[in-house]
Amino acid sequence: MLSSSSPFLYSFALFLSLFLLFLFAPQFFPLRKQPSPISLEDELDDLHLFHQATVVSSLKVSHLGITHPKPKIAFLFLTNSDLVFAPLWERFFQGHNQFYNIYIHADPSSKVPPPKWAISANFIPAKRTERASATLISAERRLLARAILDDPLNLYFALVSQHCIPLHSFQYIYKSLIGNPAEESRAFLSQPSHKSFIEILANEPTLQNRYIARGKNAMLPELTFEQFKVGSQFFILSKRHALLILKERKLWRKFRLPCVDLNSCYPEEHYFPTLLSMADPEGCSHYTLTRVNWTDSVDGHPHTYHALEVSPELIHTLRESNSSYSYFFARKFSPETLTPLMEIADSVIFRD
Ligand SMILES: *[C@@H]1O[C@H](CO)[C@@H](O)[C@H](O)[C@H]1NC(C)=O
Ligand SMILES: *[C@@H]1O[C@H](CO)[C@@H](O)[C@H](O)[C@H]1NC(C)=O
Repeated sequence: MLSSSSPFLYSFALFLSLFLLFLFAPQFFPLRKQPSPISLEDELDDLHLFHQATVVSSLKVSHLGITHPKPKIAFLFLTNSDLVFAPLWERFFQGHNQFYNIYIHADPSSKVPPPKWAISANFIPAKRTERASATLISAERRLLARAILDDPLNLYFALVSQHCIPLHSFQYIYKSLIGNPAEESRAFLSQPSHKSFIEILANEPTLQNRYIARGKNAMLPELTFEQFKVGSQFFILSKRHALLILKERKLWRKFRLPCVDLNSCYPEEHYFPTLLSMADPEGCSHYTLTRVNWTDSVDGHPHTYHALEVSPELIHTLRESNSSYSYFFARKFSPETLTPLMEIADSVIFRD
């Protein structure tokens, strides 16, 4: 009896397990692919760059023989596709050459063509970036390091992507961050008190899963759950905080570990807010100046504005904030919004 029913039982069990596997496969095997780890060569290359930047920055501006230093804002473009809003940014920068620098980290696989814009831009040596990996943290640190090395007058570092647009004129943003051009030299003296505009949040529903994305105790002992924070990737950092980030090693060793749960893996949304909230919570705004619309978000992507949604009212609405600053930038905008945005650039966006 037993001997005759065994094959049947085995095949039934096999059938049942295959059926269950089919049913639950999406949960067991998330559709996302495990990103490739950061190579030792890339890691050492970055470490060398970060070290160089911190050494160079310790040379005082006065030693460089600049008598009336004009602080600048470094715009850091992190991109993996064409910079479709280049004409809008060009209009934004027009006439302010002395007050900004542009650095672009373009993912090598994206083959971003050099912008046709007239403005000067530095394409920095880039490396591959992937979602659900620490490569975006590296790319952002690389942008900070290159900007610090390139020009000691860069005092603020604004990270934007190819989907970001400005919501105000350059003067408006410069004045809000640095003050009146007449007092700009003083900005160097007051540098130690410069605040960073970075979102730092706790008590978010997904935080627990994000904390254990590399394994239950993977972040210990360096980082407890209470210290773990989340915030928008898009920040404006002061120079002192940019340097602090380039010197950091301890948390980086944790954040660079591959995730086990790829669906909860967004290292770039945690590394910077966590580090700055541990190192200098008072020196940070805790909110971002880049507006984003999370209503009806899909797979971690926010609402993307389309051409028909663009209007002067939209710009005014997107600027409104609950902090003491109006929003400076907004995302995400689809490529076809460029034409309607250019139409209201001078009359609405850059009018202040
Ligand atoms: C945010 O996106 C939703 C659609 O997902 C849209 O209905 C709403 O108007 C948007 N809000 C703003 C302030 O643009
Ligand atoms: C400001 O705060 C109110 C009340 O919490 C909220 O409903 C609104 O969405 C906030 N506005 C922005 C622009 O964040």
